Amino acid sequence: MSNVAAQVNAPAYVKNTKLIAWVAEMAALLQPKDIHWCDGTTEEYDRLCAQLVAAGSFKKLNPELRPNSYLAWTHPSDVARVEDRTFICSARKEDAGPTNNWCEPAEMRAKLQTGEDALFKGAMKGRTMYVVPFSMGPLGSDIAHIGVELSDSAYVAVNMKLMTRMGKGVIDVLGTDGEFVPCVHTVGAPLAEGQKDVAWPCNPDTKYIVHYPETREIWSYGSGYGGNALLGKKCFALRIASTMGRDQGWLAEHMLLLGVTNPEGKKYHVAAAFPSACGKTNFSMLIPPEGYKGWKVTTIGDDIAWIKPAADGKLYAINPEAGYFGVAPGTNTLTNFNCMKSLDRDVIFTNVALTDDGDVWWESMTDELPAHLLDWQGNDWTPAIAKEKGAKAAHPNARFTVAATNNPALDSEWDNPAGVPIDAFIFGGRRSTTVPLVTEARDWTEGVYMAATMGSETTAAAFGQQGVVRRDPFAMLPFMGYNMSEYFQHWLDLGAKLQAAGHQLPKIYCVNWFRKGADGKFVWPGYSENMRVLEWMVGRLEGKANGSENAFGLSPNYEDINWSGLNFTKDQFQSVIGIDKAAWQQELKLHDELFTQLAHKLPVAMPATKAKLEQRLAA
Ligand code: OXD
Ligand code: MN
Repeated sequence: MSNVAAQVNAPAYVKNTKLIAWVAEMAALLQPKDIHWCDGTTEEYDRLCAQLVAAGSFKKLNPELRPNSYLAWTHPSDVARVEDRTFICSARKEDAGPTNNWCEPAEMRAKLQTGEDALFKGAMKGRTMYVVPFSMGPLGSDIAHIGVELSDSAYVAVNMKLMTRMGKGVIDVLGTDGEFVPCVHTVGAPLAEGQKDVAWPCNPDTKYIVHYPETREIWSYGSGYGGNALLGKKCFALRIASTMGRDQGWLAEHMLLLGVTNPEGKKYHVAAAFPSACGKTNFSMLIPPEGYKGWKVTTIGDDIAWIKPAADGKLYAINPEAGYFGVAPGTNTLTNFNCMKSLDRDVIFTNVALTDDGDVWWESMTDELPAHLLDWQGNDWTPAIAKEKGAKAAHPNARFTVAATNNPALDSEWDNPAGVPIDAFIFGGRRSTTVPLVTEARDWTEGVYMAATMGSETTAAAFGQQGVVRRDPFAMLPFMGYNMSEYFQHWLDLGAKLQAAGHQLPKIYCVNWFRKGADGKFVWPGYSENMRVLEWMVGRLEGKANGSENAFGLSPNYEDINWSGLNFTKDQFQSVIGIDKAAWQQELKLHDELFTQLAHKLPVAMPATKAKLEQRLAA
């Protein structure tokens, strides 16, 4: 073993000299008290969880009610992704584009690494540095890529075990000279000699989530929460991977992946992009309603898809993750039965409430409210307190982390290194008005336009005002690693290339489950009933289902949808499918605003498609 390997406590199976040298360099910068290389075993997971329990960071849940499961409560300042603290530090500002925070790489490096008061200098003092090797995608798949996260959070290490393929197997694939994306994470709370730790260490005042796309590095400071800290997810699998996709001709998307099998046994694969907390997990685990005998929906992924064109001209997708980090509030046996089954055991919950018998609870989990519990900040909570003060038992962005293998609806191909061929893309926002329940794009360009101009009401998944409509192109606004306009062009180019080679492209759909009536309530029942829309799409793929063209694209008529088992009137349908001309004229002004913001390198196909839409609206 080399001196350096011994210095950084590397196990004998680590042979990658670049990895060892990088860990040594980072240890010198971060100055942890010790270094632990994660092997990804169950024993290690159990040991780290026990350690988190002893430190007061985890509560072990009642093993009779929720075996092998834990609850963490975060610092109240550390509950969501911090978009305003997220930076794309490309060499040129225009490569980050107008939708990203940008900073000159040298300036950022001075702030984080090299300056006199650089934040990462000594940031891990008094803490263990975990070396977390992980594969995004099946080990060895040629769609997969490897990362190594250094973190001073055991919470991160155990979450990464559930969310990724993590541990020794990854080191083996890396071999002596394999490539990895270096990811550095610190909670930004070094401990002085003898200083007592807190249950949720973080830096309440200073946070940085930084990406260097050219050198493919990730540096995260100050937060221990979700996408800020589990760097395989948003930072690598979306922001860095989107730039890799741009350079190498593939796509990294904020999409669920599902298989839908019809009663004849024919299976289709659908990739669907929705913004955070808009029901991707629910849709990916959908159980068809009564009357859909023989139909089956199976989950490949619930949040991210990596999609590469193959030699047969089809687009193949993998889920780079191996687990789900989903929003708990709103999840119950009616909205997502399969998810609730997945959460029976082996779960890490974050910021949900603790019941008096040592189990978890969150808003809408059960019809009956518990008489008493401790809310996500450890305060007494009763239905009366909730009514009086509006206090939430669980934080609205409370999460569960669970391995995909807990999901009873897991697709048999979910781990297939070759991925699954995509038949259709869906793009959906959360819009109480304007956007129809479902619309099929007439061609690839129109589909790219729909995706590019998508708007959605903001949710608790990120800090900031909630419920305001913002443009969220491709549901990628917070996750784009480069210039948004070039990303639109990348989609157009990929389609054009496949089409020019004579291949059939997946169909593209725009959906909106969230239109509201005059009473302020959702009109469309959603959840399982979304199967009706999915069936219509499958019918379209098979050339069997009809629809009518409108200004925006092609939508089903009332009689084109299968209504068996659901009482949904023609009027109700009209109120979720109709195109209100005045509302659309307003909507187009927002498209205009977006195009003005993205004017630099905006593909000409975007305003050209808009002009056609305007003409159709005016007709
Ligand atoms: C997520 C998100 O955690 O999109 O998946 O915020
Ligand atoms: Mn997401």
